[in-house]
Amino acid sequence: MAFLQEKMLFRGLLIFCMALVVSSLKRPYTPPTVAHLTDYFPPVSIDKGFSNFFGGSNIRLLSNASMASLALDKSSGSGMVSKNRYYYGFFSAAIKLPSGLSPGVVVAFYLSNAETSPHNHDEIDIELLGHDKRNDWVLQTNIYANGSVSTGREEKFYFWFDPTEQHHQYSIIWNSHHIVFLVDNIPVREFPRNSGFSSVYPSKPMSIYATIWDGSEWATHGGKYPVNYKYAPFVVSFADMKLSGCILNPTEQVSSCSKAGVSSSDPVEGAEFVRLSEKQLEAMNWARRKLMFYSYCNDRSRFKVLPPECK
Ligand SMILES: *[C@@H]1O[C@H](CO)[C@@H](O)[C@H](O)[C@H]1NC(C)=O
Ligand SMILES: *[C@@H]1O[C@H](CO)[C@@H](O)[C@H](O)[C@H]1NC(C)=O
Repeated sequence: MAFLQEKMLFRGLLIFCMALVVSSLKRPYTPPTVAHLTDYFPPVSIDKGFSNFFGGSNIRLLSNASMASLALDKSSGSGMVSKNRYYYGFFSAAIKLPSGLSPGVVVAFYLSNAETSPHNHDEIDIELLGHDKRNDWVLQTNIYANGSVSTGREEKFYFWFDPTEQHHQYSIIWNSHHIVFLVDNIPVREFPRNSGFSSVYPSKPMSIYATIWDGSEWATHGGKYPVNYKYAPFVVSFADMKLSGCILNPTEQVSSCSKAGVSSSDPVEGAEFVRLSEKQLEAMNWARRKLMFYSYCNDRSRFKVLPPECK
């Protein structure tokens, strides 16, 4: 009896210790505190800001169109596109990713002008890549400029939270100074505009897209794990969408710029948007040191000569 109790106590202790180790492995990081840039901009109503792009029957507007759920099932993925095109701005979405196994699933929040400039398009991408058995999502950022599709500029990160539990903010600053990718306002990547190689900088008006689709061929471990429709539908929630930029009017002129309702020549030219603060730089270094596991700038097997912006 005593032996049995001891054994059970030991087993209980072991399980407790293992749970402790697992939970500390799962959430090892506390993010630094930074300015909440997302608070500067009002959310747009999704029915006012966006149209259906594809898979309309898999799109549901919720909570008075402040939120939308987009599904991927065997028949189709789904996507929305901004009604306007923008030249520079601050673009953001609060996203809650599908729970459960999601290999091959891609959720994307991105800027592109592939529809209007098919041969020399620009793109600024936040892609969330579903993962295999351990159920870890990956954040991928990428930039194309002037049709440079043969030179992917990918960087990949793990999260410091479970992105399927609640909404987290994914944002893009794009202005004449730099492109910044932010997650919950923590900058994870800055791509400066450098006059020395301006051709690699997106510089034509773009539309904003929010999509979910089947990336079986490449998304998870280079395509090793395709979408398993046994777990479908995969449903992503978009909320708190911010589209604050200079809007291109139908005569192809950049016309209205508004920051929190105030007109200016560029909504993202204020000091907070022109360069990263010390705190933001610190936070970005933290994110890159702890969570970035791939950068094209370190990929010497892919590039004999690294792209010019890689120092
Ligand atoms: C729904 O959203 C619109 C803005 O698009 C707002 O004017 C209206 O008051 C909202 N209605 C409710 C019931 O919240
Ligand atoms: C874009 O690429 C084309 C060639 O495809 C080139 O002629 C043009 O100068 C480039 N534009 C910029 C801004 O670099």
